[in-house]
Amino acid sequence: MNEFQVSELRLNLEGVNFIMSNKSLNSRASFSGKLGYVLATAGSAVGLGNIWRFPYLAAKYGGGIFLLVYVILAITFGYSLMTSETALGRKSKKSPVGAFHHFSSSKSASFGGWINAIIPMIICPYYCVIGGWVLRYLAGYVAGGVDRLAGKNYFSNFIGNAASVEGWFLVFSICTLAVILFGVQNGVERASKIMMPVLIILAIIIAIYSMTRPGAAAGVKYLLVPDFSRFSWMTVVSAMGQMFYSLSIAMGILYTYGSYMKKDVSIEKSTFEVECFDTLVAVLAGLMIIPAVFAFSGADAAKNLQTGPSLMFVTMPKIFQSMGIGTVIGIAFFLLVFFAALTSSVSLAESCVSTVQDECHISRKKSTFIVGALMLLLGSLSSFGFNILSGVRIFGMDFLDFFDFLSNSIMMPIAAIATCVLVLRTVTLDSVAEEVTSCGEKFHNRKVYNFVMKYLAIAFLGIILISSVLNVLGVIHM
Ligand code: PHE
Repeated sequence: MNEFQVSELRLNLEGVNFIMSNKSLNSRASFSGKLGYVLATAGSAVGLGNIWRFPYLAAKYGGGIFLLVYVILAITFGYSLMTSETALGRKSKKSPVGAFHHFSSSKSASFGGWINAIIPMIICPYYCVIGGWVLRYLAGYVAGGVDRLAGKNYFSNFIGNAASVEGWFLVFSICTLAVILFGVQNGVERASKIMMPVLIILAIIIAIYSMTRPGAAAGVKYLLVPDFSRFSWMTVVSAMGQMFYSLSIAMGILYTYGSYMKKDVSIEKSTFEVECFDTLVAVLAGLMIIPAVFAFSGADAAKNLQTGPSLMFVTMPKIFQSMGIGTVIGIAFFLLVFFAALTSSVSLAESCVSTVQDECHISRKKSTFIVGALMLLLGSLSSFGFNILSGVRIFGMDFLDFFDFLSNSIMMPIAAIATCVLVLRTVTLDSVAEEVTSCGEKFHNRKVYNFVMKYLAIAFLGIILISSVLNVLGVIHM
């Protein structure tokens, strides 16, 4: 058997499919089927964005009205962009760079491919740094430190300690890369199949506990009942940014996962399921956090909800401390966040590994090591940015904030515009529809899809880009 032949050894042991491949150049890994695809994609979508970012943004931008706008955007824009990326990935069987190249050899297409591929390379390292913080808290609760973790300045002292932050970052990165080394089916897919159901069960238990605390009803009402007087343009812009981040759109992920999707799986149904799953977890996270903040901080609820980044690491530990069973809830909560963060970082790393593998024509193992080295470099900058490198500021931001800003606010809208242009100019809407229907089912929302792609997407993405830039320049305040 020579190196260029597809060589796959399929074993079916006790109903579990193992696919062993020699990673020859023309074989491509795949998910075992629809469930595997949906859980892995939902695993990518459900992450820190849902559990930490969504509740804080929902609290800041109007509660129920934010949720309403978010859902409308997710079923129109989110749906259309997810469908496009997945279809282009599956059609080309390539990660973003190869996918853009597959459809067009122009320079601008190559730029579009690379920008989609570089975004996960920037996000993955700092995401693993935050993943390390989550692990630190999880370990802290397991060791019974409810009071210590809720202590004044605990969080700032922790991130101020270079060795500690770097160490936890490394542990989280190793967990991520270990899953990647096991491959698509045995690593990415299996990890998601185990972690996603556990995550949902934990989220439901914590949300019920939080909602049944005295005084929590005000928080439930705040999140679920829209108050139209709180609507503003910023509600739309921030909901839009959050939706992209949360659904892992414009980050190369859906191209890569689409390329592992089998032809007989329905893109439309899977996309819809991933969206529902992701939104459900965001709402559950809101129901875990917002009512708890109302119940345990009374008059300070509004102030506590606005704390943004520190909500999860500073406010929540205080709330856990004031509960009788803080250790148990703390462990459950951070375990859930850990699972959510791990499946997302795995998807980010998978996208990077797949790009390096495709573009440099090297084995999965080698490309995992290259990506690991890059993660170590960029991630260390982020973890040292709070301590030994805290003097270094880029546009007034520390490294982690800068990487976050660069990837989410600047590159992400450009990457999504590149996808829209590729679909409209080169691939054509009809050809995307053909890919969507290749599983033998109708493209039910084709009209919505065509309308969004033709008339709305590029304009809206341009608005997000401009708003983010104006925000950082201090012209507007989001
Ligand atoms: N969607 C993930 C979340 O909600 C974050 C993420 C972004 C994952 C980009 C992959 C790619 O946290």
